[in-house]
Amino acid sequence: ALVSMTGLLARAQKEHYAVGAFNCNNMEIVQAIVAAAEAEHAPVIIQASQGAIKYAGIEYITTLTKLAAEKASVPIALHLDHGTSFAQVMQCTRNGFSSVMIDGSKLPLEENIALTNKVIEAVRLLGVSVEAELGKIGGTEDDITVSEREALFTDPAEAEYFVKATQVDALAIAIGTAHGQYKGIPKLDFERLTQIRERVSTPLVLHGSSGVPEDALREAISRGVCKVNIDTNIREAFVLAARQVLDGNPAEIDPRKMLGPAREAATEIIREKIRIFGSNGKA
Ligand code: G3H
Ligand code: 13P
Ligand code: ZN
Ligand code: NA
Repeated sequence: ALVSMTGLLARAQKEHYAVGAFNCNNMEIVQAIVAAAEAEHAPVIIQASQGAIKYAGIEYITTLTKLAAEKASVPIALHLDHGTSFAQVMQCTRNGFSSVMIDGSKLPLEENIALTNKVIEAVRLLGVSVEAELGKIGGTEDDITVSEREALFTDPAEAEYFVKATQVDALAIAIGTAHGQYKGIPKLDFERLTQIRERVSTPLVLHGSSGVPEDALREAISRGVCKVNIDTNIREAFVLAARQVLDGNPAEIDPRKMLGPAREAATEIIREKIRIFGSNGKA
């Protein structure tokens, strides 16, 4: 069934697990996310990025994900990942998304607050949940030093101010993760996470979670993260499986022979993540 994130994250927070938020780009990945959630009896968030919407087109993305959510036996939220504008958020809401992220993290604090509030006012009565971002999460490819990245981490006092001013349903924070594949092993600022949690009761979101070691994920969840975003690990599993098919049989011309195993590999990695997050059996 299609639900917003609000109830999913409230329960996760109370019971100290995290709901997996998995990025989709095509039919096979949507199917893999739902298959994994059903196999693990887990609530799940299917999310679409700017890149996904550009690649598949918003109508295909919303039609695929809505169908998946309607057919599923577990609760599923359809979430816009890193929404860039008020107009885009409204377009997704009109198309049936049950949740949106408005990413105003690049704006000055008061402008981030104003944009976030504008979105909340527009969608809350529709039952759509809203995630915002404070601090800058960025990509592993960003050409910046460790100390430059640390300067972009979420400030606990600012987080407290932000959630008082907005009442967002979920807050994405920067504590050392980055989008994409890590070169080394990421080091998370757990002390900062705890300081944020002490000041803020809003469900916290960890982005860039692919490549974060299992024990660090568990530690972050134990300190209050209750939504964990995974994209890159799905891409890796999907493409590796497809590559193995093609390497093993260069004459293969049936896309299903390539995409079927890719879909299975994606399902497997998503199931593993769900178990690490502790959301298995919580549907
Ligand atoms: O937001 C981060 C996701 O991994 C999306 O990346 O825009 O290439 O789909 P993308
Ligand atoms: P990864 O690709 O590093 O898993 O990050 C995903 C993400 O944060 C999507 O918003
Ligand atoms: Zn992200
Ligand atoms: Na990452």
